[in-house]
Amino acid sequence: MLVSQSAAFVTMLQAAAKTLSVATTTSVSRGILLSIRHYCKKTPATLRVSEAVSGAELGANVKVQGWVRSVRAQKSHLFLHVNDGSSLQSLQVVASSALNDPLLTFGSAVEVTGTLKKSPNQKQPVELEAEQIHIVGECNPLEFPFKIKERHGLEYIRQFPHLRCRTNAFSSLLRIRSEATTAVHLYFKENGFLQIHTPVITSNDCEGAGELFKIEPSGYEEEEHFFSVPAFLTVSGQLHLELMSGAFSKVYTFGPTFRAENSQSRRHLAEFYMVEAEVSFAQSLEDLTKVMEGMFRSATEHVFAHCAEDVDLFHKHVTPGHREIVEAMLKNRFPTITYSEAIDILNRSSENFAFPTDWGCDLQTEHEKYLVKHCGNIPVFVTDYPYDLKPFYARDNQDHPEHTAAAVDLLVPGVGELCGGSLREERLDLLRARLQQAGLEDTYSWYLDLRRFGSVPHGGFGMGFERYLQCILGVDNIKDVIPFPRFSHSCVL
Ligand code: 4AD
Repeated sequence: MLVSQSAAFVTMLQAAAKTLSVATTTSVSRGILLSIRHYCKKTPATLRVSEAVSGAELGANVKVQGWVRSVRAQKSHLFLHVNDGSSLQSLQVVASSALNDPLLTFGSAVEVTGTLKKSPNQKQPVELEAEQIHIVGECNPLEFPFKIKERHGLEYIRQFPHLRCRTNAFSSLLRIRSEATTAVHLYFKENGFLQIHTPVITSNDCEGAGELFKIEPSGYEEEEHFFSVPAFLTVSGQLHLELMSGAFSKVYTFGPTFRAENSQSRRHLAEFYMVEAEVSFAQSLEDLTKVMEGMFRSATEHVFAHCAEDVDLFHKHVTPGHREIVEAMLKNRFPTITYSEAIDILNRSSENFAFPTDWGCDLQTEHEKYLVKHCGNIPVFVTDYPYDLKPFYARDNQDHPEHTAAAVDLLVPGVGELCGGSLREERLDLLRARLQQAGLEDTYSWYLDLRRFGSVPHGGFGMGFERYLQCILGVDNIKDVIPFPRFSHSCVL
């Protein structure tokens, strides 16, 4: 309950107490009366630090719970900063030095009761004048891996996955991540998309999107399967979304996705979050790029507006200079080039690429980063990839002499590929022929059904949520933007 609410509650109790003391004299009612008076006098409202520092409850008697971020003992006064994760800001606590205790150290957990006062300090307009400080949990500063007033780098704090949420940088990241999640859902809600919870466990080994994790309960024999068929952790919710797009014209999903990639790269995880959307009646790739660009802009503007202090911490101290890069991204429309144009650009460059750049080659991270720079260091769409590079569901452009599919990737500064998508092959005969060629006609008979009953042109895409956070914050390593990173040879916690 906020102080303003609890004040109203107390007023109500006081009125009740007055009525009781006038109206009754029995011992029971006297007992109730005493309890009410005790409550009115003794119980301060518990406030979050963000509420306390907002200044809305000045003069109130409150309790604040959190972890000590700094301690300064002077002759007559003790100064603490207490943080509870509700914001980057900590609340300054001022106490008489009589309340000092050697156990009040950086990292210890405390409960402070006192009165919120205006502070003479401009930077910190509110402070808590403490009447009582209760140490809830001690923290030995010599053994605690983070040191008071030290700005530890992301690489250092990554070594302590169980403790890193106690640092400013990682707690800011987690607040930004939470707000970005809200922003993505808001974008889709405001644009008429229906959210579908696609399954984590699936029997469809999908479309070759990535290496699969097979799942069976422990103790099961090789030949028997818990689900009667081999089952896997999902590599993409796309096919499930496509099925739903036969009844809902705009759908999306946002959940964990798994790839058994044996990669130690700075942009791959074995478990990551993917935002996927599917749009029915899409006529061209532009119908998809509009959604990708709209979501990127809207989510980024929302995060910058709602997490300004946290984003600033990154742009000032963790990745200085990145703010300007993101502002340039937001100022300009994202250009579109075809894959063939991209290959031309790469072949005309004087760069020595490690991987080949012939027409038909898959674009590698080094190529993607070069293309982004070439286009002015802003996000760029690359469309119409070689047909043979894309999975069976990608729509055939039926073009000559090149043979391409209506697929699109969004490449962004610092990261490379952020989104991958395509128009889907909605023509039954073409899809059946491609599945037959791959020997998958039986496995995907249900998918062919979607084209037999009310098939419509449609398309969709997936965006790696961690790569999105890397892109807007300028964070180099994907392990620094997810609470619990999972990658090959590492599953700590
Ligand atoms: O390009 P991908 O593989 O596309 C699909 O899975 C489609 N079925 C999505 C769709 O059309 N609905 O993956 C989409 C995005 C990539 O662009 C990348 O940002 C991210 O997912 N991604 C990863 N992020 C972190 N770690 C990994 N191992 C990733 N693999 C892909």
